[in-house]
Amino acid sequence: MRLNWSDVTPKPLWLNRRQLIAGAAAFAATPAMARIEAAPSAYSTADEPNSLEDITSYNNFYEFGTGKGDPAANAAGLTVDPWSITIDGLVDKPGTYDLADVMTGQPLEERIYRFRCVEAWAMVVPWIGFELAGLLNRVGVQPSAKFVAFETLVRPEEMPGVASPFIEWPYREGLRLDEAMHPLTILATGLYSEAMPKQNGAPIRLVVPWKYGFKSIKSIVRISLVDKMPKTTWNMLQPSEYGFYSNVNPTVDHPRWSQASERRIGAGLFGGRQDTLMFNGYEAEVASLYAGMDLAENY
Ligand code: MTE
Repeated sequence: MRLNWSDVTPKPLWLNRRQLIAGAAAFAATPAMARIEAAPSAYSTADEPNSLEDITSYNNFYEFGTGKGDPAANAAGLTVDPWSITIDGLVDKPGTYDLADVMTGQPLEERIYRFRCVEAWAMVVPWIGFELAGLLNRVGVQPSAKFVAFETLVRPEEMPGVASPFIEWPYREGLRLDEAMHPLTILATGLYSEAMPKQNGAPIRLVVPWKYGFKSIKSIVRISLVDKMPKTTWNMLQPSEYGFYSNVNPTVDHPRWSQASERRIGAGLFGGRQDTLMFNGYEAEVASLYAGMDLAENY
């Protein structure tokens, strides 16, 4: 059964939200190239964003292949409309919601975030998105929920990479509830003021800027509120190399390479190396989430 927010929300409230976001919601019904209006955010970095070309041509999206150019080459056939997300588990209003309903009432912002891949490359991306907390509050998180689990679409006829048994599909990720509720954590639906390019995780993906990029799961179809730490794709593949937390941490190396520095994509052959910052530069905002935890133990 497909639910609309109007089925689970008192009508006056719903109408009010609809009116409020009329401008933002309008884009969902318009072609992909329509400009998205989004408010600037105080959480944006002053760093210069990478070019649209860099951001859309150097990607990891294993559902389309393992090469950096594979997502751009193979994702064009992905159908992103219609799109729905199942929200289930320990929530007051479980259901399968159309994307437009998911976005209803969630104020869109432009968030220019640093993005750090576990493979020691980095970019700066001007995302368009809204806080995951806004959505979670709307579906009503029950007190027993401790973690949030996410899953990506699996559609073999449109995703050549899922023929590979290397990953146990669907791609999965997870956050502790307080991480999911943190205002820096967003669901992104676009970048550079346009709807999300398919290779970047259209139509909706997670962005958690203080964690390694693999936590930022793409093309999400399920969000589950759970009471136990969920299984995550990279941890399932190689637990000694990829932990659940995966916070960017220059003092904890990957077993096979240093995490102390990173290559800035697009910065050229000679100028591209920079120091990696604790929590990817978001230490002031998020360090308190991990107070008292041994971050070498909880990598
Ligand atoms: N999400 C899915 N579904 N499949 C993937 O292979 N790769 C992750 C993450 N999300 C991945 C994914 C990794 S390893 C990185 S670094 C980022 O997506 C890359 O995001 P970008 O293409 O926007 O740079």
